[in-house]
Amino acid sequence: MPHPIRPIVPDELPAFSQVWERAFNFDAKEVELEEIKKTFEFDRSIAVMDGDQFVGTGGAYSFDLTTPGGHVPTGGLTAIAVVPTHRRQGILTQMLRYHFDEVRAREEPLSVLRASESLIYSRYGYGAATIDASYEIDRRHTGFGAERPTPGRVRMAGKEEARKILPGVYASLGHTWPGFLSRTEAEWDFGLLDLEHWRDGLTANRFAIYEEESEALGYVRYRVRNKWEQGHAVGELLAEELMASTPGAEAALWSYVFSVDLIQTIKAELRPVETLLSVLLADPRRMKVRQGDGLWARLLDVPAALVGRRYAIEGRLVFEVVDEFLPEAGGTFELVGGPDGAECRRSTAEPQLTVDMAGLSARYLGEGSFRLLSEAGRVVGDLDALRRADLMFGWHRRPWCPHHF
Ligand SMILES: CC(C)(COP(=O)(O)OP(=O)(O)OC[C@H]1O[C@@H](n2cnc3c(N)ncnc32)[C@H](O)[C@@H]1OP(=O)(O)O)[C@@H](O)C(=O)NCCC(=O)NCCS
Repeated sequence: MPHPIRPIVPDELPAFSQVWERAFNFDAKEVELEEIKKTFEFDRSIAVMDGDQFVGTGGAYSFDLTTPGGHVPTGGLTAIAVVPTHRRQGILTQMLRYHFDEVRAREEPLSVLRASESLIYSRYGYGAATIDASYEIDRRHTGFGAERPTPGRVRMAGKEEARKILPGVYASLGHTWPGFLSRTEAEWDFGLLDLEHWRDGLTANRFAIYEEESEALGYVRYRVRNKWEQGHAVGELLAEELMASTPGAEAALWSYVFSVDLIQTIKAELRPVETLLSVLLADPRRMKVRQGDGLWARLLDVPAALVGRRYAIEGRLVFEVVDEFLPEAGGTFELVGGPDGAECRRSTAEPQLTVDMAGLSARYLGEGSFRLLSEAGRVVGDLDALRRADLMFGWHRRPWCPHHF
């Protein structure tokens, strides 16, 4: 029997939050819940009820997502949790159907999420559309191979000033990177809250800004773990967010990060796989890079999503999308697109290739390869169509999503 589903009102947040706490194994503090209230879109919340008890939770953020050469409104699924007593009874599946209906009603052509485990969401048609990287390097090996002169300067800023500067820099990057999610003012406030119990033994946020003629072109937000062993400083610096709108700004900010004294190890998270550091460092092998799935995407309106991006080369492609979870979202489509825009409509022509919804969604922002998917048996098509599809869907910059939600 399906359970009733409804949105919640703000006063219900503490009881609703207990589902997250039980599913994600943590205890929320009152101050956290008060802050969450300011960003949570209650009209998009998903509460699954068993009698008067909350047994499943979810919600969605209304994002604008940058695509190759464009942007689209997007529903960002969040807070998905089911209490341990009600697992594997189909509650997640029920919530996904509810969410997809809601996203389509808002005319958002796709849903995105960040997954706690990479096993869960492909069955619903999601594919890993960006790759997250984390870096770790010993400070003794952070020298650059060549001088990288920059005309600006790096200076430290306090939290209040940073709060004013950071959003503009972040927004300016979205014009060049597919995969960026918009942040509202309330989300910026939340992101910079810096509650003590979130710090995991590290310092409060520190901010450094790179500017040229008083124009901020980049920033780094970082924390430090002060650590000593046998009289030697072996501190760690964690660069939580480093954003630069020019390569010079990025080089200057990494130089700054690598110059902080009493630090032995520098770590950075939620970074792009394609990084300037790999060509700046004299000894790049010293940087340990770990990769994993980043933002997951799920197309719900194939034509609207595909005209919301541009294509690296001019081309025409007739393809079939197999969507087992939501058959009406699949079908055969004709895409005619290029660097200046695209048209896409349903078609009765013979498809040149067939792909499952998770495969197409994974390729949406330019990451991955239809050829590899075909080698895995998830795309069927002749070599010419595969090659054309890969050239069209690729982009000069690999997508990156530095936002957690
Ligand atoms: C992940 C979670 C939400 C799944 O909820 P659920 O109600 O048990 O899921 P469903 O019963 O609808 O499962 C649907 C299918 O997904 C599979 N599945 C669900 N969770 C899975 C997991 N963690 N790993 C592998 N498969 C999983 C189920 O086996 C089922 O497969 P079937 O249809 O072949 O039987 C729940 O286990 C949970 O709250 N986990 C902890 C919090 C979390 O990780 N949330 C996700 C945040 S992105």
